[in-house]
Amino acid sequence: MIVPQPIHIHRPTLILLLLLSMLWSSPRFSFGVSLIGDAQILLRVKNAQLQDTNGRLENWLLNTRRNPCNWAGIGCDAQNRSVISIDLSDTGISGAFPYDFCRIRTLLDLSLASNFLNGTFSPRRLSLCSHLRLLNLSSNCFVGELPDFWQEFRELRHLDLSFNNFTGNIPPSFGRFPALRVLVLTCNFISGTIPPFLGNLSELNRLEIGYNPLTGPLPSEIGNLTKLEDLWVATANLAGNIPDSIGQLISLKNLDLSTNSLSGKIPDSISGLRNVRHILLYENKLYGELPQALGNLSSLINLDLSENHLTGKFPERIAALHLTSLSLTDNFLHGEIPVILAENPNLNQLKLFNNFFTGKLPENLGRNSELEDFDVSNNNFSGEFPEYLCYRNKLQRLVTFTNRFSGALPDLYGECTSLSYVRIRNNDLWGEIPEKFWSLPLLDFFEIQNNNFEGSVPGSISAARKLRSLVISGNRFSGELPSGICNLHELLVIDVSKNRFTGEVSTCITGLKNLQKLTMQENMFTGKIPSTVSSWTDLTVLNLSFNHFSGEIPPELGSLPDLTYLDLSSNSLTGEIPSELTKMTLNQFNVSSNKLSGKVPPGLNHQVYLSGLLGNPDLCSPDLKPLPLCSKSKSFSLIVIIILATCMVLLVGSVLWFLKSKSDALGVKSKRLFKITTFQRIVFNEEDIIPFLINENLIGTGGSGRVYRVNLKAGQTVAVKKLYWGDTQKPDEESVFNSEVETLGRIRHDNIVKLLFSCSAADFRILVYEYMENGSLGDVLHGDKCGDLMGWSKRFEIAVGAAQGLAYLHHDCVPPIVHRDVKSNNILLDQQFKPRLADFGLARTLQREGRDGGCSLSRVAGSYGYIAPEYAYTLKVNEKTDVYSFGVVLMELITGKRPNDYSFGEDKDIVKWVTQIVLSSPALEGTTGHCRDLFQIIDPRLNPSPCDYEEN
Ligand SMILES: *[C@@H]1O[C@H](CO)[C@@H](O)[C@H](O)[C@H]1NC(C)=O
Ligand SMILES: *[C@@H]1O[C@H](CO)[C@@H](O)[C@H](O)[C@H]1NC(C)=O
Ligand SMILES: *[C@@H]1O[C@H](CO)[C@@H](O)[C@H](O)[C@H]1NC(C)=O
Ligand SMILES: *[C@@H]1O[C@H](CO)[C@@H](O)[C@H](O)[C@H]1NC(C)=O
Ligand SMILES: *[C@@H]1O[C@H](CO)[C@@H](O)[C@H](O)[C@H]1NC(C)=O
Repeated sequence: MIVPQPIHIHRPTLILLLLLSMLWSSPRFSFGVSLIGDAQILLRVKNAQLQDTNGRLENWLLNTRRNPCNWAGIGCDAQNRSVISIDLSDTGISGAFPYDFCRIRTLLDLSLASNFLNGTFSPRRLSLCSHLRLLNLSSNCFVGELPDFWQEFRELRHLDLSFNNFTGNIPPSFGRFPALRVLVLTCNFISGTIPPFLGNLSELNRLEIGYNPLTGPLPSEIGNLTKLEDLWVATANLAGNIPDSIGQLISLKNLDLSTNSLSGKIPDSISGLRNVRHILLYENKLYGELPQALGNLSSLINLDLSENHLTGKFPERIAALHLTSLSLTDNFLHGEIPVILAENPNLNQLKLFNNFFTGKLPENLGRNSELEDFDVSNNNFSGEFPEYLCYRNKLQRLVTFTNRFSGALPDLYGECTSLSYVRIRNNDLWGEIPEKFWSLPLLDFFEIQNNNFEGSVPGSISAARKLRSLVISGNRFSGELPSGICNLHELLVIDVSKNRFTGEVSTCITGLKNLQKLTMQENMFTGKIPSTVSSWTDLTVLNLSFNHFSGEIPPELGSLPDLTYLDLSSNSLTGEIPSELTKMTLNQFNVSSNKLSGKVPPGLNHQVYLSGLLGNPDLCSPDLKPLPLCSKSKSFSLIVIIILATCMVLLVGSVLWFLKSKSDALGVKSKRLFKITTFQRIVFNEEDIIPFLINENLIGTGGSGRVYRVNLKAGQTVAVKKLYWGDTQKPDEESVFNSEVETLGRIRHDNIVKLLFSCSAADFRILVYEYMENGSLGDVLHGDKCGDLMGWSKRFEIAVGAAQGLAYLHHDCVPPIVHRDVKSNNILLDQQFKPRLADFGLARTLQREGRDGGCSLSRVAGSYGYIAPEYAYTLKVNEKTDVYSFGVVLMELITGKRPNDYSFGEDKDIVKWVTQIVLSSPALEGTTGHCRDLFQIIDPRLNPSPCDYEEN
């Protein structure tokens, strides 16, 4: 720095010069040659190498003083104003990695996280940056091998390369960062094993390598990282045992090795983690007993060992820890819960479901801590509920279903105003429910079915304003259903079936506008069925069977748009069946065993509905046997019919005889009884196909028939579906089949499988489709062929294609076609994995026929796991069911799991699983910041890139 030398200068000038020199040397005004150079470097990089699409670097301008210290993202040394940090994270810049920033020799920290930088790394050029202290490239679109650090980066303390598309092994240079404290490689495509040389990073206190497709074990050298506080290697494909050396990590606070394939026992050495607060080992293959040694970890607050193969008992020493959260779900643990667990003053969350625990729960559970979440379902617990479970009034979830709990609900539970979720079904509980328990203000789910509760439902239930699901079936409740229930406007489901309720049902119940399911069967309700039902626009199930309802069936029921399940059987209903009911598309219709009279209305006068009409002695039909015939004079019509029938028999007999003799004479084969329809230009006929419908060519069996692959003479391969066809076939079924085939035949869409040909003969029907090389999406996704669907982009294309096919069915076809069985097994994939919906419309055919109860019904309802919950019991028909099922397919594509994967646990399907995870994960800041949370649900085989997340 050049400071003017004051020699022989008079006083005022001297003062002025002194002032000036003070200004010069103050930090604000001091800048050297290098700083001007830094500004030029920054500008050159910005202009030549980065795209600043969002204009966030607009204030990077050469001002008069050429001082970059107030430019966006630039940090300077407080003393000499040299540039020491560049933080351009989340500015939306793109381009390749700007090595030239490192030409600023004073630069220490370079953070370019959460941008769109792309390309690969050159180790040679990266050496320019060897003076950096921090390098953060998280959440960009870098590809290729992890950068190799040729030059020793002696100062590097923080290296974050997470959320990129880096591939390959961790290079040996990663073992040579003498000062490294934080190494974050999460969410890449890093493969290979975790290299032992990471054990050399003696200063490391954070190591995060989760969400990478690694292999092999956690190396024992990891134990050398004695300063490590966070070790996060979740969902990284780890196998083998947890090394004994893990116990040497005396500084460790957080250990997350969840969702891997770790096996073996939890090592006793784990007791060495004397500072550990969180241990997450869920979703592995750990076996053996819970080590007593865990009991030494006095700093532990969160222990999650769920979803392993652990056996043995729950050790007293672990129960004595002061954990906040304990999850041991989905293991093979047995024995009793140590009483000392109830002494824990911190216990907040206790999840023990899906084990084999027995005995009583500790009496004082909940008394000493603010218990919020309590789930012990699916065990063999017995005895009474702990009286003080909600003592601190924090309990939100009381989940104990499927155990052998007995006794009454403690009175204290009535004070539990925090409670929202009660699922205590399938136990041996008895006695009256404390009155206040019915009116808890936050109660949402109330499922207590299949116990032996008694008493009546109090009118004060009207205070449970949030109640959506009231399921109290299979108990011994009696008395009337209070009209207070009519105040619960959130109610979706009321199931009071199989109790001893009496009295009339208040008509105000029709004011529950959101009601979807009302089941009251097997009680002793009396009086009329309410007729003011027009507000029940969402009602899909109404079951009032096996009661003492009287009066007429309200015709208004016929106008409920969503009702598809109506069972009024075994009551004392009188009058005629209102013809209005025929307006509905009912899948279940039952008015049998009543006192109905008159003529069955034409729309219901069908074989399908017969069983639902029987047991009404005064009900008659023009033709439906065995119902009595309707007519003014039965004997007259009987005579007419006998005469007609005789004529018919004679006529038909003679015609047949004539035809037979004629065809015998001409030698005509009966083959021409086939009825053939072709839909595309085809070069084959039924003779090319029928001989090949043999077991060797069988490729699938479904609810409606068998599917064969047939190689035609002309070289074409087709898929042939042969429908099961009972011998109870009738002319109208024939026409239904034909109209169905016409529908299928007129559909032309790229994402719908092409029907080429159909053939209907006396005893079978065949449908010939183009053959899809890659089978069904379900096979590919859940079979051993998944290698073909590793990338998200392919899965995404499949999702879009299938959605287009579905949209065509729903919106472009007139009338719309509802598939009703959308599932991954019905999405076929051609050679290029282009999706085509298959098997549509047939379900509808089967439904209209309504034959062979179980089989055809299960087809109509769709497939287990794909059925919208509100439709599961209704077989309701509209586009929404398809959309829901398609949503399930989307989740399948994302998670790679089957809709009913056993790992979700009983009572949980993919929808509940995903919802629960997404809702319980705190949303993180930033565009790509959801990785950790989303990654729990994402198919580990999928290898998504950060850019894929953007797409999500
Ligand atoms: C400014 O200070 C830093 C240390 O804070 C030093 O590394 C750098 O060389 C100095 N720069 C100049 C231009 O004096
Ligand atoms: C890197 O930057 C991201 C985004 O700003 C931040 O979340 C992350 O903590 C940083 N990494 C390190 C090691 O500081
Ligand atoms: C990086 O992305 C830009 C678009 O932002 C693209 O033009 C360029 O080709 C990409 N470079 C590499 C190496 O992928
Ligand atoms: C990430 O890698 C995968 C597979 O290696 C590739 O399909 C995808 O295009 C890559 N994404 C980016 C942003 O380069
Ligand atoms: C590092 O770990 C290995 C294996 O656990 C051990 O043999 C070695 O002595 C350790 N080295 C140091 C320097 O502690």
